[in-house]
Amino acid sequence: MRHLLDFQDINKNRLENLIERTRSLEVKPENLDCMALLKFDEPSTRTRLSFAVAAEKLGIKTFESSDVISAKQKGEILKHEVETYVSMGIEILVLRTKENNIDDYREFEDIAVISAGFGNKSHPTQALVDISTLYSLNKINEKRTPVTYVGDVKHSRVFESGRQLLNLLGFKVGVFTDKNLLPDNKNNLEIYESWDEVFENSNAIELLRVQKERLQDNEEINFAEYINNYQLTKDVLNKSQSDMAILHPMPINIGIEISEDAIEDSKIKYKDQLSHAIPSRIVAFKYVRDEI
Ligand code: CP
Repeated sequence: MRHLLDFQDINKNRLENLIERTRSLEVKPENLDCMALLKFDEPSTRTRLSFAVAAEKLGIKTFESSDVISAKQKGEILKHEVETYVSMGIEILVLRTKENNIDDYREFEDIAVISAGFGNKSHPTQALVDISTLYSLNKINEKRTPVTYVGDVKHSRVFESGRQLLNLLGFKVGVFTDKNLLPDNKNNLEIYESWDEVFENSNAIELLRVQKERLQDNEEINFAEYINNYQLTKDVLNKSQSDMAILHPMPINIGIEISEDAIEDSKIKYKDQLSHAIPSRIVAFKYVRDEI
């Protein structure tokens, strides 16, 4: 079975095809006689619903579970949990988890696993949403960095999958954040020191939420300082070029990464991203079923 846990084993042609399909897919109602389990162990609005809608459009029957209501609470190991799914005919596991044991899932051969947000490691369908949006807005080119991630980059799986996809396509990504929120792996990054530098060198920005739930005990954020240095305000936005695009994977924390007066600006493109949410999950289902 194929997995979509991240992009590490997918070649450039196929990645370009997945993005093109996310941008242009037309779905006719199908009945695939396939069952998928949507297992969300962390909260989600967009990813869970768009996987459910995508499955409905493809005729895939879905079931829901989570650690809170599963026998994991009684000490069950992952192997036995997955063997149970397979025995019942579940072909696809769509998983959102706070854990970082992504490699454990690569080993399963009788079930396809799709990451719907995996620890701080991967969120490939969000990357398909984001990079497809950047292509649709003509932001992917050699002139400047296609996108600069601003905010809590260190704990962000949206950043990790976005950078992986863009790096595999041959592009660097930008980062603008506090030195304590930089990722450990700084390969293929452009690290900017000011908003002016970001605007001068980037076609687009993706704002990131502070991932409070992923801060370690020894990590603290000084929010007043963070807001002062990295919040996107109307004044900051007014300094950007007229065709600047501001992305956000959502949920948005207004008052932290963006101010109330900036959120309605025409440069804010989260609705363009939302329009790619269902196509990206359809593409994920089709990819693991070997149909793309
Ligand atoms: N972007 C994203 O993953 O949103 P949800 O947490 O609502 O699924």
